[in-house]
Amino acid sequence: MPNILIVNGSPHGGKGITGILQKAFVEGAVSVGAHVDEVFLNKKKISPCLGCFNCWIKTPGKCVIKDDQAGLLEKCAWSDILVLATPLYVDGMSAQTKTFVDRTVPLAEPEFILLDDHCRHPSRVKKEWKFALISGCGFHELDNFEALVHHCKRMCINFHAKYCGHVLRPHAHILEFSEMLPNEIKKCLDAVRKAGEEISLHGEISEKVMAEVSAPIVPRAAYINAVNVYWEQELSKIKEK
Ligand SMILES: Cc1cc2nc3c(=O)[nH]c(=O)nc-3n(C[C@H](O)[C@H](O)[C@H](O)COP(=O)(O)O)c2cc1C
Repeated sequence: MPNILIVNGSPHGGKGITGILQKAFVEGAVSVGAHVDEVFLNKKKISPCLGCFNCWIKTPGKCVIKDDQAGLLEKCAWSDILVLATPLYVDGMSAQTKTFVDRTVPLAEPEFILLDDHCRHPSRVKKEWKFALISGCGFHELDNFEALVHHCKRMCINFHAKYCGHVLRPHAHILEFSEMLPNEIKKCLDAVRKAGEEISLHGEISEKVMAEVSAPIVPRAAYINAVNVYWEQELSKIKEK
């Protein structure tokens, strides 16, 4: 059974929307025997990359910044599957997630090689590494994830890793209202559990399960209405003070 490392880059850690999706994914993975390690970046100290390339020259494979990233690179080496769990921020990953990703540069070697007629770096990770993505977003449409998915697929080429699928939940704040829509939300989270099972058993998430995870839960017009009522109420609470 694979070793799965999940790196959560939500400022809310395990408590937010990303955390709800991640919890169901982990339940599925663990239920079929995968070994799962979860890292919450909101509990870690990781500074941005200095761009000094010392990790390629002076201390090959090691970063000069002494913080929590060293431990995360060891976990990366342990993992067969790396899962990034990030809220969608401005059409991409959160800054916390990107900082972690930038600081994986020590996993590459400095030389350029040609791979599929494209410049790449050789990897120090000498195994068939797999990658998956978990993300939720506020807007209603699934296409909000296009740039993030594209970015992750490009990253996989640089990591010499295989992109194995994703859990993408549009209008994700609906997941916080499980008492109002118990059946719909259970259906969605059951599909997320299935995604965790599939990647553990078969090394990838099927198109069918990805579609089930992302299926609309409420019509767009009703969702817009509910969101606007919520913000109106929040604003009036402030005005009343
Ligand atoms: C800084 C910021 C940027 C965001 N950008 C987008 C966006 O581009 N598209 C979108 O649909 N939702 C966007 N959202 C909504 C988040 O994706 C949503 O609140 C998130 O999935 C919540 O996850 P969390 O509870 O784990 O933080 C943004 C939220 C914040 C705070």
